[in-house]
Formats: sequence, structure tokens, C-alpha cells
Amino acid sequence: MLFYILLFINILCFIALFWLWWLIIKLYTNKHFRECPPYVPSLGLEKKIIIENVRDILKRATRSMTILDPGCGSGGLIIKLAKEFPEHKFIGIEWGNLAYKFVRFKTRNLKNVTVVCQDLFEYDFSKADIIVCFLMDTLMEKFGEKVLKDNKKTQIVFSNSFEIPNLPLLEEIKTGKNLFFKNVYIYKVD
Ligand SMILES: C[S@@+](CC[C@H](N)C(=O)[O-])C[C@H]1O[C@@H](n2cnc3c(N)ncnc32)[C@H](O)[C@@H]1O
Repeated sequence: MLFYILLFINILCFIALFWLWWLIIKLYTNKHFRECPPYVPSLGLEKKIIIENVRDILKRATRSMTILDPGCGSGGLIIKLAKEFPEHKFIGIEWGNLAYKFVRFKTRNLKNVTVVCQDLFEYDFSKADIIVCFLMDTLMEKFGEKVLKDNKKTQIVFSNSFEIPNLPLLEEIKTGKNLFFKNVYIYKVD
């Protein structure tokens, strides 16, 4: 019996390793794959920094604000704040069906959260006061163009780990703890 359990675990580990290598190779060799960031949740210091900075802005706000998370995954960057600030509006955009259903379920009791299932590049960003995102390096220039195209008022943009080359940088907060994901970039777009 023990032999079969160990064999099963062994096979699972082999499949997981194979999948990981396939993912890494595709990320490095396939530009299109790199342009579609997979679901990786914001974690650690970068997530904490973004949430603290947005919290500071929301505490000082004199009117209701709209916070947009394009590519919201399971809502890691917005749900905590949405619970703290029911007077502000939070919007998540997610095209992955599974992640969308999951975030819809997690926010089912939050009246100030809207989640839409669509391509973020087809959504109008103009109503957002604050944009928080965690996407991917190869997508950031196109993302910056989208922000500039839709912009109609002052917007603060927080990007986890990836610079947006065509937006005016307000601050770069270095975290540098991780090989792949580090730093928070803050932009002010007028
Ligand atoms: C790296 S995850 C970040 C999730 C979440 N924002 C966070 O910080 O925890 C990126 C998410 O964006 C979604 N995504 C990628 N490209 C998208 C697109 N064009 N339209 C909508 N969602 C997209 C992916 O499905 C994935 O869930």
C-alpha cells in the first residue's frame, strides 16, 4: 500500500515539475504568452505597500472614489480595502472565468464591489481615481497607452513589480527582496 502511495506522490511531483518547466519555457520563448499574465496573486511587501498607500489616499478623500484593479485575479489588491471603505467604489476586471467566479463569490456581500468578466483593454478606465495593477513587463507599455487614452481626470496608478514606461513616475518604492517580483511604481496621470 505504502508503495502505491509513494508512487502516486512521485507521479504528482513529476507532473507538477513538468508543468512548471513548461510554464517557465513558455514565459521566456513565447511573447504572446508573456503578454497574457497568468494568475499570480500579489503577496508580501509589495501588496502591503500598495494597500497602505491607497488606504492613506482614501482616508483623506473628501468624496467617494473609484478604485480599479484591471486583472484583479481573486481580488487580493481590493477586497481588504473594500471592506474597510464601504463609502468608496471598487471595480475588478478579470477575464479568467475561474478567477472571476471566485472573486464574485468572495465579494458577494460587498455592495461597493463590482467585478466584470472581460478583457481589461476593452474596459473604460476613465471613471477610476486610483488604478492598482499587477500584470506583466511585456504588457506595461500597452497598458500605459490604455491609461493615457482613457484618462479624463487626475489618476494615481500603482503597479506591483512592473514599470509603466510611458506614464509619469511619481515614486518608486524599492523592495528588492525577490528575483522576479519587486518594487512598487506609483504614477500620477493628469
Ligand atoms: C498577476 S495576476 C494579479 C491578480 C491580482 N490583481 C493581484 O494582484 O493579486 C494577473 C491577473 O490578470 C488577469 N488578466 C491578464 N490579462 C488580462 C486581460 N487582458 N483582461 C482581463 N484580465 C486579465 C489574469 O487572468 C490574472 O488573474
